[in-house]
Amino acid sequence: MRRYLITGASRGIGQAIAVRLAEKGKLLLLHGRDKAALQRTCQLVKAKGGESQILIAELSSVKGVERLLRQIGQKPVQVLVNNAGVAYVKPVSKITLSEWQENLAVNLSAPFLLIQKLLPQMKKGCTIVNILSVAAQQGFANWSSYCATKFALEGLSLCLREELRPRGIRVVNIYPKATRTGLWKKVSGKWPVEKMMEPEEVAEAVYYAISRPKEVQVENIFLGNILGNL
Ligand SMILES: NC(=O)c1ccc[n+]([C@@H]2O[C@H](COP(=O)([O-])OP(=O)(O)OC[C@H]3O[C@@H](n4cnc5c(N)ncnc54)[C@H](OP(=O)(O)O)[C@@H]3O)[C@@H](O)[C@H]2O)c1
Repeated sequence: MRRYLITGASRGIGQAIAVRLAEKGKLLLLHGRDKAALQRTCQLVKAKGGESQILIAELSSVKGVERLLRQIGQKPVQVLVNNAGVAYVKPVSKITLSEWQENLAVNLSAPFLLIQKLLPQMKKGCTIVNILSVAAQQGFANWSSYCATKFALEGLSLCLREELRPRGIRVVNIYPKATRTGLWKKVSGKWPVEKMMEPEEVAEAVYYAISRPKEVQVENIFLGNILGNL
């Protein structure tokens, strides 16, 4: 059975991706930290005839990523969706070193380690999807820590894509603008929800990219609300 790993599948964009990819014949490995929320994603996947397995791991430490890798096991993963992410929104002068390091660990080092460890088993037609952001290419006041992680993940991703062309492994970058998820409740400030898009739109983009014929690489998808940035 084909195995797809989605990190941060307990809510928001990751949950929407899980639901969109759910179908008979695929095992979705759903990662997160919140077991109850992951069980909800599992129910949604099941309702679409899909199968799933819950993997719980903290991604801010190497030990946590290793715990996730142990749960994934040795069998190949055909699609890896690096989606889990965290944002701290504050001026550069106010970001603590531990927030900076956690941001880098979750948004950049965890995807790097997962890619590195899962790649050896990947074959032609396999796909790595990195959920980047408009903040991977554009700076926004108070988003420096988050932007730094997304710019860096984009750099990793673009180089990886070139390295993997000869092996026929695809690397897809998704660049959503503001998306209506709980992420916005965790960052201080008032945000115009009406200028956000739904997470299902990001999920649709992921589905489109990975369901192309294996010799076709959808490289970058940029999407957002017609109203533009917040
Ligand atoms: N929302 C937007 O406007 C937007 C726009 C562009 C890009 N993105 C990107 O899209 C991705 C998903 O964001 P979202 O909006 O869906 O956010 P969200 O609703 O806050 O969900 C974040 C997910 O990441 C997981 N996660 C966070 N910190 C973690 C950690 N330390 N260890 C393990 N898992 C962790 C969470 O797991 P638990 O809840 O189980 O703890 C959750 O499943 C992120 O990479 C984000 O940067 C979001």
